[in-house]
Amino acid sequence: MKVISKNQKLENISCDVLIVNLFEGTKTISGDTGAVDLALDGLIKKIIKEEDFKGKAGSTLTIRTNGLIPAKKVIVIGLGDKEKFDLNSIRKASAGAIRAAKREKAKIVCTILHGIGEGKIDTKDAAQTVTEVSQLAIYEFDRFKSKDKKEPKKEIQTLIIAESDKSKLKDIEAGIKRGTVIARAQALARDMVTESAITMTPTKIANIARKVAKENKLKIKVLDREACRRLGMGAFLAVAQGSDEPPKFIEIKYTPKGKPKKHIAIIGKGITFDSGGLSLKPANSMETMKDDMSGSAAVIGTMSTMRELQPDVAITMIVAATENMPSGKAYRPGDVIRAMNGKTIEVLNTDAEGRVTLADAVSYVVRQKPDEIIDLATLTGACVVALGDTANGVMTNNQKLADKIIKAGNEAGERMWQLPLYDEDREKIKSDIADMINTGSKGKSGAQNGAVFIEKFVNDIPWVHIDIAGPSWIDKENEYGPKGPTGVGVRTLINYLTNYA
Ligand code: BES
Ligand code: ZN
Ligand code: ZN
Repeated sequence: MKVISKNQKLENISCDVLIVNLFEGTKTISGDTGAVDLALDGLIKKIIKEEDFKGKAGSTLTIRTNGLIPAKKVIVIGLGDKEKFDLNSIRKASAGAIRAAKREKAKIVCTILHGIGEGKIDTKDAAQTVTEVSQLAIYEFDRFKSKDKKEPKKEIQTLIIAESDKSKLKDIEAGIKRGTVIARAQALARDMVTESAITMTPTKIANIARKVAKENKLKIKVLDREACRRLGMGAFLAVAQGSDEPPKFIEIKYTPKGKPKKHIAIIGKGITFDSGGLSLKPANSMETMKDDMSGSAAVIGTMSTMRELQPDVAITMIVAATENMPSGKAYRPGDVIRAMNGKTIEVLNTDAEGRVTLADAVSYVVRQKPDEIIDLATLTGACVVALGDTANGVMTNNQKLADKIIKAGNEAGERMWQLPLYDEDREKIKSDIADMINTGSKGKSGAQNGAVFIEKFVNDIPWVHIDIAGPSWIDKENEYGPKGPTGVGVRTLINYLTNYA
């Protein structure tokens, strides 16, 4: 899909579908929608009345133009409540509109920028949001479908019209560029997770990371099992020892042109398949466990935007990629293992493997003394129970940093909800024979048990843990994409790194 900007009167543009909008409860149609209605001799007004179209957020109404204007059809998209209008309303509206246009088999779609007339929303942000969502909403993964089952690819071209305010054209173009880059990064994350563990092995993740690094002129290091052993990564390697797939520890570095404002470490959990190991998962819980590398997909997706977005902070990305498999070589419940920082872990459940791999990922990066550490991980089923696929769980040792990340996430349309970490929770991972256990109190505060474990390795560096186990996978398609992997985390990280860090 291609999004471009045009500066032309709406009613003169030739396209398959022209998208206009309506706030909920609007009495008189005005602005761009009004202009098109005028060119259509009041047809929009008439059909809105006939169909009792209310303008609810994301609802659509399709109108044939009968040759009165060059556009074949007009889709009116509901913007919802004017008082509550924000970037998320634009997301809902644009996603609804592009999906309706796709149903109409449109090739060229033309849209006004929703809601910027109100002055509450920045033009560039609006253009970025429309671009992002329009591309993500019609994302498809059809690489594995046989030729005869594949629907022919319909390239949709979207034109964003800036007729009402010519001076804003530059902002719109900048927004489109940024939105395109971000949507591409999130699509890469979705592709990586969807592909599946049989081919999306640690080796393949490392190869994708190499490609991303090359394209963005970033430094990359990939450590194999032996190199990890030399560094003393006994935790990461314990998880990896049950699998025939060689583990890969991946580090990518971005340095800005000027003096970096700060150094931020972003870490993504990279379990390419989580069987649970010897603490084997039941069959149905395993069905979606190719998604246990969603954190790594999100951070690699983020790094894929560096050449274009050029944030002014230094970034170190870490992924400790491995499978978690049962076998004669697998680590066992009861095993005591030693992480790179010397701390020992009593493994009580081999299915709590994510935190074990993160122990070494965090220990490794802490040596570089970053100013902040952010980890994204499909860490716990408990977080899915608590927040569903609606929100990510945020846990932290630094409220100021968490506040910024929560804001960046919510603004980017990836909901963040904080869970508390209390000293009582920290007590629950005490071990009788080692520095900690890898589980916690049974059936209680599961998401926090994971967080306080990771916290043991961050050495008081400001740190935010984002448990993405819920939103990384949706069981039903939503307005932002098909069911399955969502690529969550990319938009939050990019928004944070470029606007809030
Ligand atoms: N990868 C899972 C968490 C998960 C569950 C992600 C559901 C996505 C959807 C993780 O490795 C895991 O199995 N965690 C255990 C920890 C427990 C054994 C302490 C869990 O949550 O049950
Ligand atoms: Zn697990
Ligand atoms: Zn896992």
